[in-house]
Amino acid sequence: MSMPDFDMVLFGGTGDLARRKLLPALFDAHRAGLLHPAARILATGSHPLSTGDYVGSLEQSVRPGLEHAPPEAWASFLARVSYVQADAREPAHFDALARKVLERAPAVVVCYLATAPHIFVPICEQLARTGLNHPNVRIVLEKPLGHDLPSSDAINSAVAQFFAEDQIYRIDHYLGKESVQNLMAIRFGNALFEPLWRREWVQDVQITIAEELGVETRGDFYDRTGALRDMVQNHLLQLLCMVAMEPPTSLSEDAIRDEKIKILKALKPITPQDVAEKTVRGQYRAGAVGGKPVPGYLDEKGIAADSHTETFVAIKAEIANWRWSGVPFYLRTGKRMQSRVAEIVIHFRDVPHAIFPRPLTLSPQNRLVIRLQPEESIRLYFLVKQPGDTVALAPTSLDLDFANSFKVRRAGAYERLLLDVIRGRLGLFVRRDEQAQAWRWVEPILDTWGQSTVPPKPYTAGTWGPAASSALMSRDGSLWHEEV
Ligand code: BG6
Repeated sequence: MSMPDFDMVLFGGTGDLARRKLLPALFDAHRAGLLHPAARILATGSHPLSTGDYVGSLEQSVRPGLEHAPPEAWASFLARVSYVQADAREPAHFDALARKVLERAPAVVVCYLATAPHIFVPICEQLARTGLNHPNVRIVLEKPLGHDLPSSDAINSAVAQFFAEDQIYRIDHYLGKESVQNLMAIRFGNALFEPLWRREWVQDVQITIAEELGVETRGDFYDRTGALRDMVQNHLLQLLCMVAMEPPTSLSEDAIRDEKIKILKALKPITPQDVAEKTVRGQYRAGAVGGKPVPGYLDEKGIAADSHTETFVAIKAEIANWRWSGVPFYLRTGKRMQSRVAEIVIHFRDVPHAIFPRPLTLSPQNRLVIRLQPEESIRLYFLVKQPGDTVALAPTSLDLDFANSFKVRRAGAYERLLLDVIRGRLGLFVRRDEQAQAWRWVEPILDTWGQSTVPPKPYTAGTWGPAASSALMSRDGSLWHEEV
């Protein structure tokens, strides 16, 4: 399918997300020749700025972060970019914006709301008032969408007054990662795994998103948000759905989303009484990451001195359905951890009767490790005979490293998702019911933590989180994958 002509209106065009992710992703697509020649990027912000000044600022704020931006490609990319002042309190700004877009009448108009969520609704009102909500307009909503179920519901209901559900693209950039789609390919493209992908053969599933970064320049936002809202409600639960869902009947957008919502609905509620036993919340103290000293969370800019906001979460989740009953899904995410890694680990059960002497480890021998970052790989661990006279077993692995196996350009998560919006493919975006259900599940945890006077468990920056996180698993006789 060739790429349609489009205008992309980037609300929050001077913000962090636009500069760090969206403009680089659009540049990559441009450089790869994937954008329609006439397509334009209209960056907006509330301040008056000339296009020249805006484009000039990208030289310092965007270009240095690009892997490789040859002068011709960079110049032809910038020729697509212009700046339009659009303050949601100023109807005249939106009149001018709408004129600029409607006069050219591109096949598709994408309005990307990379702004604070409290101005989503005023922006949508203005777009609708000026006719920028016709059926060819698609609206992209960045997370976090709200703070809890009522606030996210309020935004969704307000946006729904102006845009139909099939015009709304709720982005979760983890769904755009190549290996997440590969997970579907592995599960549903091979007969090998499906018979084993169930409670009879799986002992537990672990999903980790660990970051080395701290809160960077977002202290103020982060302190109001915390890791449960920032990472678990969206990225981790979406990954869990992709691992656990039943085979969809097709790759159509609703077939996949229908299966995901069933998993979200089947998640066993974590009641306030369960919170102490099934969750761990942590907060980093000063330490060292990558050999460099880093401050503790409470000393970061924008953080309240007595903050109880969590920078680490571990949860034991369970899915109440026939396939997964009794199989723990351990979820873990944190800032300032030992290394940057995102991975899904499927631990298969041990053989029913061991006739060989076993290597001394607690961990199951058969593990499938799907790594999303820093590199994309799939590794299957199993036991073989150690060469020699005696029959002793030794662990080994089959490795698939995607960068080496497929030497082709790979789109980043944001690039893939932006191209999907332009092409009108909703499959990798979150439907309203999924989002609401995910909020519903995390809410008792949020409420219980919110009411608790007990501070989060401290952990030293540069480690794998509080000791309680290992204890959460060792109670069940398991270990986190890194600690094996
Ligand atoms: C974002 C969170 O959604 O995901 C950030 O708001 C986090 O706090 C980021 O750093 C992680 O994404 P990635 O792709 O770098 O793992």
